[in-house]
Amino acid sequence: MNVLVIGSGGREHAIVWKVSKSRHIDKIYCCPGNAGISELAECINFDDNNFGALVDFVKYEGIDLTIVGPEVPLSKGIADVFEKEGRKILGPNMEAAQLEGSKVFAKDLMRRYGIPTAEYKAFTSCLHAEDYVGMKGAPIVIKADGLAAGKGVIVAETVDEAINGLRLIMKDRAFGDAGNRVIVEECIHGEEASFMAFTDGKTILPMVSSQDHKRVFDGDNGPNTGGMGAYSPAPVITEKLESIIMEKVMRPMIRGLQSEGIKYKGILYAGLMIKNNQPYVLEFNCRLGDPETQPVFSRLKTDLIDIALAIIDEKLSDINLEWKPDASVCIVIASKGYPGVYEKGKIITGLDDVKKMNDAFVFHAGTAFNNNKLVTSGGRVLGVTALGKDIKDAKDWAYMAIEKINFNGMHYRKDIADRAIKRQ
Ligand SMILES: Nc1ncnc2c1ncn2[C@@H]1O[C@H](COP(=O)(O)OP(=O)(O)O)[C@@H](O)[C@H]1O
Ligand SMILES: [Mg+2]
Repeated sequence: MNVLVIGSGGREHAIVWKVSKSRHIDKIYCCPGNAGISELAECINFDDNNFGALVDFVKYEGIDLTIVGPEVPLSKGIADVFEKEGRKILGPNMEAAQLEGSKVFAKDLMRRYGIPTAEYKAFTSCLHAEDYVGMKGAPIVIKADGLAAGKGVIVAETVDEAINGLRLIMKDRAFGDAGNRVIVEECIHGEEASFMAFTDGKTILPMVSSQDHKRVFDGDNGPNTGGMGAYSPAPVITEKLESIIMEKVMRPMIRGLQSEGIKYKGILYAGLMIKNNQPYVLEFNCRLGDPETQPVFSRLKTDLIDIALAIIDEKLSDINLEWKPDASVCIVIASKGYPGVYEKGKIITGLDDVKKMNDAFVFHAGTAFNNNKLVTSGGRVLGVTALGKDIKDAKDWAYMAIEKINFNGMHYRKDIADRAIKRQ
């Protein structure tokens, strides 16, 4: 089979890497990909918003399956275009992808189907939202309704901060139309975890649990990022909690969507806050997490193409997911300045030494070739991922691999997975 993967980050490198191990694979394409991905796939440079041109390419090259990494093309309806042309694609259609694309849509569904989430109210008027914030007091959370590349949420410690957030989103329109509506919601204190599942709209197969590290600095300090590292499993998600999450969150959401007449096929990702051993949904995503995919797919034994085809054909109940018992840790190395304005074009060395290590793998994110030299080209550059007999072991291997890697201005957290290790 020929497979196309859409996207260019560490998540997509992990998808391509997993696809490359499939017994079905002939050739992999990636649009647009990155330097690491280009070792496994032919990278093509299409405008990934021009779905018509992409689907023509897929027909011309005889591509049998397309897997979509990021949320933006899904929200813009890439799956609808491909399905209309009779092409197999993994990812929900535009209607279903609203679950991530509109926080108001998602919260209203959660309320309607009794899924535990923070108490909230949606607003189209900044003034009304400000009044509500004044009434509720702080801490309080402000969320732009639409996609904002992970920047549209303000966890406000004071009323002033919340009001500034509202004005930034609704008046200054920092995120454009994504700020036409906002959610103001109760702040929940607890431990965050990511719960991802494959679903064909009927059967839900949960993946192993994982946890991300959002803040840029050790000890969860500094501004939010796309994610500085992740590990799997997340000890906070015990077996008992997993069955609670399936019962209270995942099944009601898929059933709820069904009764709304929406078929949800692809990946369903619940961003959770765990408080008193109970899950509260912060948000749903309609795609895999980045960097959670790197440690989670490192543990996945089942052929990803078998899973993708079963989802598309609505036969997911035939699949039995198998996982390596090992733990996995992924540490993100970022460019100087990230998550603010960051440097680019720095030469990266040492990856050949990591290749000699067993059970350590470097997933590329912002990398490119310049005159045949591997250079940085993004904020998050590499996701150094290792397996181990437990999380401590995996962490030690990952940091050992990082020792071999170098580029000017590189920075990474030194405490990835420490919380899980303390728990074990
Ligand atoms: N109700 C809440 N209480 C406390 N923290 C929250 C709440 N909602 C979101 N957060 C924090 O803000 C981050 C981003 O919110 P989220 O809803 O996941 O939006 P997005 O990923 O689209 O930016 C979360 O990872 C969490 O740390
Ligand atoms: Mg989130």
